[in-house]
Amino acid sequence: MRSRRDMTASSIPAYLRTLALAPESPVPMHRQLYFAIREAILDGSLKRGTRLPSTRTLAQDLDVSRNTVLAAFEQLTAEGYLEGVIGSGSFVTLRLPEEALQVRAEHGAHTKGKARPPGPSRRGADLIKMAGSRPRPTTFSPGMPELAAFPFELWSRLLAKHWRDPPASFLVGGEALGFRPLREAVAFYLRTARAVRCTFNNVIIVSGAQQALDLAARVLIDPGDKAWVEEPGYPGIRGALVAGGAGLVPVPVDEEGLSVAAGQSLAPDARLACVSPSHQYPLGITMSLKRRLELLEWASAADAFVLEDDYDSEYRYAGRPLAALQGLDADGRVIYVGSVSKVMFPGLRLGYMVVPDHLIDAFTAVRRLTDTHPPMLAQPALAEFIEAGHLVQHIRRMRKLYAERQAIFIDACRQELDGLVVARPAEAGMHLVVTLSQGLDDRAVASAAQAENIDAPALSGYFLGPPNRQGLLVGYTGVPEATIRRGVLGLRQAIRTVAAR
Ligand SMILES: Cc1ncc(COP(=O)(O)O)c(C=O)c1O
Repeated sequence: MRSRRDMTASSIPAYLRTLALAPESPVPMHRQLYFAIREAILDGSLKRGTRLPSTRTLAQDLDVSRNTVLAAFEQLTAEGYLEGVIGSGSFVTLRLPEEALQVRAEHGAHTKGKARPPGPSRRGADLIKMAGSRPRPTTFSPGMPELAAFPFELWSRLLAKHWRDPPASFLVGGEALGFRPLREAVAFYLRTARAVRCTFNNVIIVSGAQQALDLAARVLIDPGDKAWVEEPGYPGIRGALVAGGAGLVPVPVDEEGLSVAAGQSLAPDARLACVSPSHQYPLGITMSLKRRLELLEWASAADAFVLEDDYDSEYRYAGRPLAALQGLDADGRVIYVGSVSKVMFPGLRLGYMVVPDHLIDAFTAVRRLTDTHPPMLAQPALAEFIEAGHLVQHIRRMRKLYAERQAIFIDACRQELDGLVVARPAEAGMHLVVTLSQGLDDRAVASAAQAENIDAPALSGYFLGPPNRQGLLVGYTGVPEATIRRGVLGLRQAIRTVAAR
């Protein structure tokens, strides 16, 4: 580093004496000098009207070229921090508002009596509470697919194929509702695999189901509207609804799914009901046909909408999957939401929603104002992945793998956790709700499990009101056999730790 010349005898004013210009820094010297002088002006150590040394003297004393000082002064003058008086040199501008500069100087010191800058809105504060914090995914994280089993070779070939020589249409920005061939592929997949009634016109490509929930809340909810949510239920839905200004009405879930009768007595005039009928999250119940029809009937009579979250319906291990609720809707009331987070990998951040004809324009407008359109990068590859049958094939392979893993988990529970938990086989999904036998507090066990590097959240955390049952959500799909067995031993340790308190 260059050393400065004789500092004491130099023209270097006090505000620059601590300045260490670093010639090896990637930040050019003139920028370093500019920042130092600007900071000194803003924090008040260089007062309004102060005359700066001439550029020649300063350059000598800082041991830099005169051009460096000239460039810094030019920038400061252009931005209004300095003003030049011909023949007299450069001065700190007199017009800078003194009070603003003092506030800035004191702000760093958190002076007593000064107001802090404003915080988030009440809605923002509510959202902080709702978002909570989730640990990084680890052993047994619910809903985590087996990432190592994904055909990345094939996926990277598809990505490269579409981007080696991309058409201009990929580069200039896409359509608000998504890449047309992907919308067509998704519409075909949903018609055949889920009996969803749609054409590509109804399909919107989104960045994961979470964005679909957010868009639905923006389009369908006015501040103060009531929305039924499942109790217990998925926190992501609640967050999206609160962000949209909705009042949440938790409606109990029984063995047939969300209780429509309870919803009708709690809030008959709700604007929206949110359900996960294929595999209720988190309890895993499949909504009965009778309940589905009741729900649609209520929606018609109440002039309300139903939001169907079909987040993991592909994983059904016994019996035939029940078709989507949307396929029963003759009235244009169901908004259908799905995702490839569970059938491919969550980092892809792609999902889809199907909206009735009369809402397409509103969703298009809101989409434009939200993030313009989905990123182009992965959409063409995903369209081909679906069209060529790779998605269906991958799902078939994962269904077999996950059924095996569920059986291994249940077997390990029988061997290692006998008398401590009840773990029953489930016909569908990616997690089990394991009940704790000794009446232990599920939050205490979940946090003791975290110390064992296990992410098995407490069921009671999914209730808005007082929980009427407890347990742990254990995701078995993303965990290889050896890790399942080790994880079960970790769970045993966590349960014993809490039982011994
Ligand atoms: C019930 C439920 N709905 C929706 C989602 C959101 O999925 P995405 O990753 O597509 O936003 C999840 C993800 O965990 C979920 O569990």
